Amino acid sequence: MSLILEDADIMTGVELIDKHHLKYFNIANELLAHLDDNDRKKRLFSDLNAYVVYHFDTEEEFMDKFNYDNTQQHKEQHEFFKSKIKDLSYQYLAAGSFNEDAINKISSLLIDWFVNHIKVVDKLLCNFILEHSKTDQGIVEKLKSKLHDFILKR
Ligand SMILES: [Fe+2]
Ligand SMILES: [Fe+2]
Repeated sequence: MSLILEDADIMTGVELIDKHHLKYFNIANELLAHLDDNDRKKRLFSDLNAYVVYHFDTEEEFMDKFNYDNTQQHKEQHEFFKSKIKDLSYQYLAAGSFNEDAINKISSLLIDWFVNHIKVVDKLLCNFILEHSKTDQGIVEKLKSKLHDFILKR
């Protein structure tokens, strides 16, 4: 059920974004492995929520600051995921045990949706970032300072 990261073809080539994604999957995998542990599950759900907001905000900062042309579609996907994850926590957080159907729903949102999002829209954004960072010192500096924040935050 958990994601084997090496198999997933999710690396974008932008170190900052890849580090964020790996951290996201670490939390998501841990959550999926501890759905039957109520306290741990609550803490992990809340960590995951906070992390998703932090990560999406970071990507959106790049889109806004550097006039990315696919911004609207990308942000819509982020909004969709944030609302789905909220529904999921209302629906399942209180449950003490999970049947197979519930586990499949949780895993398909947390893992499958996210992998697909990375492969399609995040990779487009990251290609844009990589392309522009060849000529735009502003984007290079932004990447550096965000990477610095991320390392401090860990
Ligand atoms: Fe994204
Ligand atoms: Fe992302």
